[in-house]
Amino acid sequence: MREYTPDTITDAVLEQMGQTPDPRLKEIMAAAVKHLHAFAREVKLTPAEWLLGIEFLTRVGHACSPVRQEFILLSDTLGLSTLVNTLHDSTAIEEATHTSLLGPFYRENAPELANGDNIAKNDPAEEIQLSGRVTDVEGRPLRNAQVTIWQTSSGGAYDIQLDPSEPNFRGVFHTDDSGRYLARTVRPLGYYIPMDGPVGEMVQAQRRHGKRPAHIHFLISAPGYRELVTALYLAGDEHLDDDVVFGAAANLVVHERRDDLESPGAPSIRFDFRLSRASDADMQTGRVGADPAQIAREAVLTARA
Ligand code: BEZ
Ligand code: FE
Repeated sequence: MREYTPDTITDAVLEQMGQTPDPRLKEIMAAAVKHLHAFAREVKLTPAEWLLGIEFLTRVGHACSPVRQEFILLSDTLGLSTLVNTLHDSTAIEEATHTSLLGPFYRENAPELANGDNIAKNDPAEEIQLSGRVTDVEGRPLRNAQVTIWQTSSGGAYDIQLDPSEPNFRGVFHTDDSGRYLARTVRPLGYYIPMDGPVGEMVQAQRRHGKRPAHIHFLISAPGYRELVTALYLAGDEHLDDDVVFGAAANLVVHERRDDLESPGAPSIRFDFRLSRASDADMQTGRVGADPAQIAREAVLTARA
C-alpha cells in the first residue's frame, strides 16, 4: 500500500493517468497536474484557502449564462487569454496582424452592411470614418473578405448593455476588389469590464482599476487564410499600458487623422490588416472566446449527448 507525501503524490497521479490513449489529453493533463501541485506546494496551500478557491470558482460558474461568460473574463484578467493569443500568433505560417481579445461582447447576429454604412445608430457624437485594406502578408488585396466590427457607443457601453433587443455599434462588411473596407462610426470610449461578479471582486481585491482603453474589435476571415481576431486601440487613451485584460499592444494602436482624400478635414482612422495563409492546424478555431449564447448551447448539447 502506498503512502502519500507532498513529494510523492504528483508522481502517483501521473502514473495513474499514464494510460490515457489520447496523447494530447495525456500531455495537457500531466502538465496541469504538475503545475497545480507545484503551485500548492509553493504557497503551502491550506484547506481553508483551497475551499475559498473552490467557492470562488463555483461562483464564477454560477455567474455564467447565455449572455455572460465569467470564466473567460477570469482568463482575460489573469492574462491567460492573451498568452493563448500570443502562442496562437506564433504558430501562424506567416507573420500577420497580431491577435487581440475577442471579449465578451462579440455576438453572432451583427447586421450585414454595405461599405460606407454607419454602424452607430442614435449616437449624437461626431462621426468618424474607419477604413483600410485586408491583404495577404505580401500586401496583395483580399477581395470579399468578411470584416465584422463591434465597439462601444461614444459613452463606453456596448449595445447589449444599453438595449439588448437591438444590435447597434456592430456590423459585418465585405472588402471590395481592392481589399478595402469602409465603415462609419463614432469614437468608442474606454470602459470597465463587468465588475459586478466574482471576477470584479478579485480585480478590486487586487486594487486594479478594472478598465479597458478605448478600442474597436475586428473579426476578419477570407477563404484559405487564418481567421484574425483583433482590435484597434485609440492613441491617447490613459490605459493603453495597463489594460486590465492585457489586450492593448503597441502594434494595434491607431492615430486619428484628418487627411482622407474623399472627406478632407473629417476624422478618420486607417488600418491595413494582413492575414496569414491557413495551415491544416487552422481547421480548429483560433478564437479565444465566443458568443456566450453559443457556449451555453454547446454545454446543453454536450449534456444531452
Ligand atoms: C472587450 O474588449 O470587449 C473585453 C475583453 C475582455 C474582457 C472584457 C471586455
Ligand atoms: Fe471591447
